[in-house]
Amino acid sequence: MRRKNIFKSACLTLFIALLSASLFGCSSNKTNNSSDNGKGSNSGYPKMVVTFSHVATENTPKGQAALKFKEVVESKSNGAIQVKVFPSGQLYGDDNEIEALQANNVQIIAPSVAKLSGFEKSFEIFDLPFMFKDSETLYGFEDGEGGKKLLDKLNQYGMVGLGFWPNGFKHITNNKIEIDDPSDLKGLKIRTHGGTMINEVYAALGASSTKIAFNETYQALQLGTVDGQENSLVNIQTQRYSEVQKYLTLTGHARSEYTLVANKAWWDGLNEKTKELFMEAVKASTETGRQLEEKLEKEALDQLKGSEKINIHNLTDAERQKFIDALQPVFDKWSKEIDPEVLQKAQAANQN
Ligand code: LMR
Repeated sequence: MRRKNIFKSACLTLFIALLSASLFGCSSNKTNNSSDNGKGSNSGYPKMVVTFSHVATENTPKGQAALKFKEVVESKSNGAIQVKVFPSGQLYGDDNEIEALQANNVQIIAPSVAKLSGFEKSFEIFDLPFMFKDSETLYGFEDGEGGKKLLDKLNQYGMVGLGFWPNGFKHITNNKIEIDDPSDLKGLKIRTHGGTMINEVYAALGASSTKIAFNETYQALQLGTVDGQENSLVNIQTQRYSEVQKYLTLTGHARSEYTLVANKAWWDGLNEKTKELFMEAVKASTETGRQLEEKLEKEALDQLKGSEKINIHNLTDAERQKFIDALQPVFDKWSKEIDPEVLQKAQAANQN
């Protein structure tokens, strides 16, 4: 009888021990996973560090979109994937970021579309004078088949186009003269962010143009290497060009836009789940950029107006028409250089 009881209590002790061991095991496992803080062991995503370099400041649509991209990837991967964002050309300037991307020294960059036009002329579509009537039209084009066709063209150059981010319509600043007529540009030397067509735009206006790296532009304006430059209002404001420029004309003659580009070999090596996560982050960050673009542009204009350092001229409709007419030959010539399907999609977007 006593032996039976001893046996019973031994079984009970063993049962309790096993039960608590399994409970403890589960809970300690759970604790481990959460204290692991998603460092990859349970997120289903491979652990990796992704380097993202760009040249704009953080308080721009691109700067904020990059931070949103980072936030989505890191939070949804539970920390398994880290995105290290380097703004303001801290890592690479716009003169060497594409090379760095192709060498996989950086995995993602967001250069101005014009900087890709050396690979594919169709990227010049954003610089075609007065091509897109407003931001909504442009976004419709980017999100549709035209935008996709453009992005796909990058694959053959060891790059993957993930999407487009906004910068803003371009306006002209200079140090010499208030521009309200195309002839006012005669003899001016203008800094551009690159591309080929833009040189013909300025040649048609009697000006000359030269490509200068973004992070060297303030100095070039200050030293008088160039008389003026063209850029989005947000870049004009955040780069403090009003300190070294006297006149700003709101021409809105073309669009400065970014392409979000990844190194192809790196991208192709990702599993499907990880690619989907990155694309989710592209979508969210594009929305952030687009929402902020309008707001930051308005704030930039208010600050420029408030600074009283720069004289601002908004073209009247009649004045704008003179620029459209003066640049029509450039439009006609260069629209033939754009993939016809891409051009047709852009024109169709304008019709909506
Ligand atoms: C420029 O070079 O003017 C711009 O492309 C810089 C940028 O990335 O906003």
